[in-house]
Amino acid sequence: MAVSSAPGKVYLFGEHAVVYGEPAVPCAIERRARVEATQRSDSRVRVHAQDLYLNGFSVEYAGPADDRPTVATDQSVLDLGMRYIDGAIDRARDLADQPEVGLDVTVESDLPLGAGLGSSAAVVVAGIDATARELGLELDSEEVANHAYKVEHEVQNGEASRADTFCSATGGAAKVEGDSCETIDAPNLPFVVGYDGGTGNTGELVAGVRALREEYDFAASTVESIGDLVRRGEHALDAGDVDELGRLMDVNHGLLSALGVSARSLDAMVWAAREAGARGAKLTGSGGGGCIVALDETEDTPTALGYTPECERAFRAELDTEGVRRED
Ligand code: MEV
Repeated sequence: MAVSSAPGKVYLFGEHAVVYGEPAVPCAIERRARVEATQRSDSRVRVHAQDLYLNGFSVEYAGPADDRPTVATDQSVLDLGMRYIDGAIDRARDLADQPEVGLDVTVESDLPLGAGLGSSAAVVVAGIDATARELGLELDSEEVANHAYKVEHEVQNGEASRADTFCSATGGAAKVEGDSCETIDAPNLPFVVGYDGGTGNTGELVAGVRALREEYDFAASTVESIGDLVRRGEHALDAGDVDELGRLMDVNHGLLSALGVSARSLDAMVWAAREAGARGAKLTGSGGGGCIVALDETEDTPTALGYTPECERAFRAELDTEGVRRED
């Protein structure tokens, strides 16, 4: 039996624009997906991923229970999750040159699926690592990142950057620009995450931005403006200037809204965070529903989000510095 885990991430800046070669800064967070792989004596593959949608997702700040929206488990999101897991298992079996080998695979995750916290990348990264090790193949984190990217790319119909998978495999803060990925120095920023209980379909949202960008010059310029903003953000990160990082996050959210990937619930959480005094707030990931990330070292933002009807969960997220990790 081999067990591996890998972290999720938030985007400090740059999602969507990264798909067109602009830079992005994703940061791994200490919430993980875990995959256990055990070789079988026959050639069947059985995946156990019960309650993947919310399994282990703990509530740290919550407002009055009556105000909370009910989470419906969306079958299409679960199906999509299974495609990532299947992709990871197939890739690792091919790499180990045992494409027909049978496996029992169990997946658990602290990360809600399709909500902007990089759950699919974390599952794919942990899945490739655990399955490959179970089949006698050790991969370093960059190799895992590379293969995980190929799985995401395929499941998302060719619409994926290297950002999520690189960040999950290596941990820490990363700068991703085209095919170039590097880990960069970052202070442990006071991330607060708000989650609306919903999901976005990354493939569809990325395709929507692509269509807008092809139709309107303003959308193409918006993508380039996000790239300029990320370059400014890198200087602010270098200087540890949290106020400037927050200002740039606010602008980044506005630019993502202009590209049509925000949602009423995400805007409501972003405004609740800003009104509570957060240094800045933006959606994270592909948008459409899911999570926002804010910067606030005080308890004001988590508390305010806990009382915001559109917010189902709010929690602090520490920077993860480890990336993919062996758990057996
Ligand atoms: C999704 O977490 C981030 C996007 O930029 C897509 C990608 O980078 O693959 C929207």
